[in-house]
Amino acid sequence: MGKIKKIGVLTSGGDSPGMNAAIRAVVRTAVYEGLEVMGIMCGYQGMINADFKPLQAHSVSDIIQRGGTILKTARCEEFRTPEGRAKAYVNLKEAGIDGVVVIGGDGSFTGARLFNEEYDIPFVGIPGTIDNDIFGTDYTIGYDTALNTVVEAVDKIRDTASAHNRMFFVEVMGAEAGFIALYSGIASGAEAIVIPEIKDDARNLKAMFDGGRKKSSAIIIVAEGDEGGGAFAIAESVKEDFKGYDIRVSVLGHLQRGGSPSAIDRVNASRLGHAAVEALIDAQKSVMVGLANGEITLVPFRKAVKLHKDVNHSLVALAKILSV
Ligand code: F6P
Repeated sequence: MGKIKKIGVLTSGGDSPGMNAAIRAVVRTAVYEGLEVMGIMCGYQGMINADFKPLQAHSVSDIIQRGGTILKTARCEEFRTPEGRAKAYVNLKEAGIDGVVVIGGDGSFTGARLFNEEYDIPFVGIPGTIDNDIFGTDYTIGYDTALNTVVEAVDKIRDTASAHNRMFFVEVMGAEAGFIALYSGIASGAEAIVIPEIKDDARNLKAMFDGGRKKSSAIIIVAEGDEGGGAFAIAESVKEDFKGYDIRVSVLGHLQRGGSPSAIDRVNASRLGHAAVEALIDAQKSVMVGLANGEITLVPFRKAVKLHKDVNHSLVALAKILSV
């Protein structure tokens, strides 16, 4: 493998605030290092369709503060197939792209891992998802912003819950993981938090409330991936236990994915974007750059996608203690 001269960058999977800051860091680092950069549009679909556009330092001006992604994003079924990846390889070769930075989540890294088992163009990943569910990194781009968005929303729900003496089930995103729910629950002083990592927590809600009528109002944060179902299903299944409460459900939905990235997301995205380009220059392939204890780490895609990242169970215990 010769020296890298031209790299591609794409965003894939669900967008997350800070992806633009990562794109900016990738482009500016590449320019600084004398590399050419091509933006690959709409995730892996852009590789398959040869939808590439040259990016210069000025192409990424004025985007560090913007949510979404200037490169667009998609979940691409075709890239899951050997035929799709073969088309992508031909197009990358024709465009002279000899290294790719993939900003996305575990689905995106699974595609990248497969591609790197089959072809000689190295891929390096940057964890970009609000879910924070990727093994090998303490942090994924967008998680901090999403968390702050959720806390702001729950604070508002708290006002009306308290005014009406109501119990609210608030459903938050996170896919199969409970990071957003656990952290936003602690930060908003939730009375209970229901997450997939703790089995049967939805069924045990009554016990947490000391017989069902202890506080005049309550906020219960429900992770969308909990095995008890979403917030509507859980509220329905426990309503007999909480007869004293007037129950409402609020599903926060996609507002959690938008908005201007927090300062933490911008700084971490900048670090990870820079590290990804340096990793390609250092002839790394099939790895994700992550942050562990504040330091940049390299994690093989194989591990990042296969191994399970658990929540910190001492925080689950803390949430219970503080909602006494
Ligand atoms: O992975 C990010 C995420 O926002 C999850 O939290 C959520 O389950 C999913 O994407 C929603 O996906 P879509 O935007 O396709 O509905």
